[in-house]
Amino acid sequence: SWTTHSVVEEQVAAIRAQVGTKRAICGLSGGVDSAVAAALVQKAIGDQLTCVYVDHGLMRKGESEQVEKDFVAATGVQLKVVDAEERFLNALAGVSDPEQKRKIIGREFIRVFEQAQAELVAEAGADGEEVAFLVQGTLYPDIVESGGGTGTANIKSHHNVGGLPDDIEFELVEPLRQLFKDEVRMVGTELGLPDEIVHRQPFPGPGLGIRIVGEVTKERLDLLREADAIAREELTAAGLDREIWQCPVVLLADVRSVGVQGDGRTYGHPIVLRPVSSEDAMTADWTRMPYEVLARISTRITNEVADVNRVVLDVTSKPPGTIEWE
Ligand code: XMP
Repeated sequence: SWTTHSVVEEQVAAIRAQVGTKRAICGLSGGVDSAVAAALVQKAIGDQLTCVYVDHGLMRKGESEQVEKDFVAATGVQLKVVDAEERFLNALAGVSDPEQKRKIIGREFIRVFEQAQAELVAEAGADGEEVAFLVQGTLYPDIVESGGGTGTANIKSHHNVGGLPDDIEFELVEPLRQLFKDEVRMVGTELGLPDEIVHRQPFPGPGLGIRIVGEVTKERLDLLREADAIAREELTAAGLDREIWQCPVVLLADVRSVGVQGDGRTYGHPIVLRPVSSEDAMTADWTRMPYEVLARISTRITNEVADVNRVVLDVTSKPPGTIEWE
């Protein structure tokens, strides 16, 4: 019979048997899967594990702190944080094309992660230890999807964190490969991870970089982070987090419209709210959420976020629209 407790016990034993006395590395993305995988491996081998978190500067408000503080507090894991915001912003300067943004972010991510990895391997080597394992939060559906060869159309180049580098040889540790998402969340809770991590809604690897229509700049990111934080706060306060699959908040940086505030004319940007209901993100419908909540979000965003004078609601299902705008 399936109990989270027995899954944890089994996996802990399996990880110990696989890794022995060697060392392992795990990339954290801020997402549920890598967090639970890391927590499980930490429980099994403790300080033989080091986690790496690449902060690309494209995360939402408070998310990096969640990894750097809450996750570390809950697990006691050794964490190496790489602050790569400037590098990512430089690489993205002048780029508006969505696919190009995705490629740049994916490429930079792998470079930064590999460099951090190589440093850890060298440091351990200096202590006479060998880093031989890479932990990945691969789930059962990931394996079915990629091995099934069902030929899902590649609409957007999906970039997933922790892509396996080809030049350093690691053996993979994949303690979640028999689990579905809801089981992974149960295991996370069993391991003592906070709800904000365990019940986090999906968020794309390229982060807010693909939620700014137009060039990505620090200023625009800060603006979008504020708007997004307000929307998340109000959705949570209204108790809608479980009902809504996710709600991308998008900045139309290349669009301006006329508004009026106080007794002055404004010429600002629109923010798009994209609340969707879905089972698996393959298809989705726009969420019919209460007008009062929409009104509160709209009022707060236009009052509190400088340079935003309009909030619009995306009422497109998927298909034809994708969940993300880019
Ligand atoms: P779309 O926009 O294709 O998104 O309808 C489907 C789901 O995938 C998420 N998404 C990503 N997740 N890396 C990820 O890890 C990505 O590059 C990426 N792009 C989209 C999106 O948030 C939605 O849940």
